[in-house]
Amino acid sequence: MATESYVLKVTEVIEETADARSVVFEVPSELQATFAYTPGQFLTVAVPSDRTGLAARCYSLSSSPHSGRHQITVKRTADGYASNWICDNLKAGDTLRVLPPSGIFTPKDIDADLLLFGGGSGITPVISIARTALEKGTGKVVLFYANRDENSVIFAAELAELGTEYADRFTVVHWLESVQGLPSQAQLSNFATYFDGYTSFVCGPAPFMKAVTTALKDLGIPRERRHQEKFVSLGGNPFGDVEEVLAAQQTLAEADDADEPGDAPEPAFAGPVAIEVELDGQQYTFDDWQGDKVLLEFLEEKGVDAPFSCREGNCSACACVVLEGDLSMKHNEVLDADDLGDGIRLTCQALPLSEKLRISYNG
Ligand SMILES: Cc1cc2nc3c(=O)[nH]c(=O)nc-3n(C[C@H](O)[C@H](O)[C@H](O)COP(=O)(O)OP(=O)(O)OC[C@H]3O[C@@H](n4cnc5c(N)ncnc54)[C@H](O)[C@@H]3O)c2cc1C
Ligand code: FES
Repeated sequence: MATESYVLKVTEVIEETADARSVVFEVPSELQATFAYTPGQFLTVAVPSDRTGLAARCYSLSSSPHSGRHQITVKRTADGYASNWICDNLKAGDTLRVLPPSGIFTPKDIDADLLLFGGGSGITPVISIARTALEKGTGKVVLFYANRDENSVIFAAELAELGTEYADRFTVVHWLESVQGLPSQAQLSNFATYFDGYTSFVCGPAPFMKAVTTALKDLGIPRERRHQEKFVSLGGNPFGDVEEVLAAQQTLAEADDADEPGDAPEPAFAGPVAIEVELDGQQYTFDDWQGDKVLLEFLEEKGVDAPFSCREGNCSACACVVLEGDLSMKHNEVLDADDLGDGIRLTCQALPLSEKLRISYNG
């Protein structure tokens, strides 16, 4: 089943650095509610491809929700397909098919003191959080921002402006690999010790994220104050029929076959399973989940408007917390051992492991 997607017009493409472009979408008034977002969330875009029809890729919103803008920022990945296509081809006036915002890399309390770590393109969700917290919140915001060299610093001027405007609340520490080498775990740990009680958000290349998250864990920062976003490429197509998607876009490519939905998984627990679901303040109770389809599909069949994006275990948009019983997952690219220990599961990959289950989407 495809997520409902929308064709949005690109109003601006901004060259941020030689390797990064920001893309601004026009969201018509009738879609404003659908495209409402919280800082740190991402959009999924359908990039045309002459090989597969389209390549679905997630891009974090770098704008802040209160600005009224919907801006993503894309950095070229070496030998990558979609990021280079966007940087080389997309221009104002073009259209792209887009899925509404989703994701859980977003502060619960915008007034909290925030310790943000961004590496390279990982600045994208982080600057949205910083801008929102500075403009709408009351806490202090500290940003540790690592880049290869001075020319690869995205949003350098804007960060300097925010530093001047919020001199008493905002601190940016730039770290340049060309000058200081890669930041070590010990250096990151030493830095973080100054910000006891802050809530951390980490996004960047895998080795950077590992060094930061290990440093924060070793400092004893509790799980609820450690958040991370992993940037991976989607392999499948959450947009549905490829031809239909492309027909609505200006840049048409000759479509190959759409991805076929996978075979029905083996039941992990032969149902029926009784399940209680808490979502957006509502309770749902079912007693006939047979375990022959993943939880997200079961809930959709029951008419529950459950969140999702990639449907592949790659993005965490569909995450829930298991309060009773347990769920297995067919595939998981985003949750780490801490998340699993906290009972977090991806409903798009989840099969029952017990006869009775209680889950919540409210975290
Ligand atoms: C939640 C989330 C948020 C993200 N936010 C950002 C962000 O803000 N900014 C950012 O820059 N990145 C972000 N990313 C990463 C982004 O989604 C992509 O992973 C990244 O841009 C690399 O994609 P790529 O296609 O360029 O590279 P790759 O995925 O490395 O490209 C290679 C892949 O493309 C396939 N391919 C090659 N040629 C073709 C073709 N002609 N047609 C179709 N497929 C082809 C190959 O088979 C291979 O699988 C985010 C990822 C996630 C999950
Ligand atoms: S929808 Fe992306 S992980 Fe489930």
